[in-house]
Amino acid sequence: MPFYHKLGDIPRVKHTTFFKKDGESLYREELISSKGFSGVYSNIYHHHLPAAVKSITKLAVKKEMSWPEAPLIYTHFFTDEIDIEGDFIESRVEILHNNHCSIQTARVSRDMDYFYRNAHAAEYVFVHRGSGDMYSQFGKLPFAPGDQLIIPRATTYQLKFDDYKNNKLLIIESDTAFEIPRHFRNDYGQMEEHAPYCERDFRPPHCLEPSSEAGDFKIIVKAGTDYYEHCVQHHPFGAVGWDGYLYPYAFNIRDYHAKVGHIHLPPPVHLAFTTGHFIICNFVPRLFDFHEAAILAAYFHSNIDSDEVLYYVEGDFMSRKGIKSGSVTHHPGGMPHGPQPGKTETSIGAKDTKEYAIMIDTFAPLQPTKHVHETLDKNYAQSWL
Ligand SMILES: [Fe+2]
Repeated sequence: MPFYHKLGDIPRVKHTTFFKKDGESLYREELISSKGFSGVYSNIYHHHLPAAVKSITKLAVKKEMSWPEAPLIYTHFFTDEIDIEGDFIESRVEILHNNHCSIQTARVSRDMDYFYRNAHAAEYVFVHRGSGDMYSQFGKLPFAPGDQLIIPRATTYQLKFDDYKNNKLLIIESDTAFEIPRHFRNDYGQMEEHAPYCERDFRPPHCLEPSSEAGDFKIIVKAGTDYYEHCVQHHPFGAVGWDGYLYPYAFNIRDYHAKVGHIHLPPPVHLAFTTGHFIICNFVPRLFDFHEAAILAAYFHSNIDSDEVLYYVEGDFMSRKGIKSGSVTHHPGGMPHGPQPGKTETSIGAKDTKEYAIMIDTFAPLQPTKHVHETLDKNYAQSWL
């Protein structure tokens, strides 16, 4: 979490009486904490008991789309060609996964009339196209194209889009939290001067509109690959205040401050977020390396213990042919990769790049799904010949 934040009304001392306006009934305090009681946490104050669940129903599992016979091969595929649409949950399609993460895209074409919580995974939502507001028990957080929403595990939330035409998200579920890399911070937790972003680049929820409404409110709770419908008796966004370090926030890829080198710098200089089992990098417009003989395209490399995934957002990607907005390339670990024929030569002398892309490097192998198979660039695997 980027920093301590406080919103709404909270008692002067935690774990003490906090009365509603009637002077008799209490607001209910909830500690939302990570790593047991030893990680980041927030204290949140609800109108009603947060555990008041009326019923729990297990929902039908989404259609299995695994591709067990997928070969170990370089892939390039077009996620904009996946023609599944729907609300924020129905439209999610998994493209790659391992035991620690699920990488998905979603073309959100309908509003959600329920609330959502991922009980087992933290979520990263990259807004490729679309704008609107994220609502959660922590308040309202507007989002726009380029935003990366970092959503702690077990946050109850909704995404409300301004309209439902041409929205597109990249979503990553992770079994460990999305973190700001430790070496970006000093001993006091403040972002270092050399970090590619600073505190003012992060946007926490900025207003609370608590509801004490009673009724039947539906929360879809995801637990691994299972879904449950929890019916609760009060509006899930009934908190009047909270403070702490655990909350959802937004960081826009356009606010990532790129670094430039004398000669080619490797992907860690594009690092944005870490987790226990993969990292996320932001590739953004930047000047190229300034050595007079620099080769600007990357050299061939074998990352022996990482799979590399790139989601292409916009601009020309220097080292690849045939890339479109919404393209994904997956270069499995254990195989070398690098610029396609001719791309090394044409990179020499270039001054800058206008590309935007998200890179995901996982430390365990990824398994592609049938959505990859169905939208595959069939010539890509042999494109170095
Ligand atoms: Fe690479």
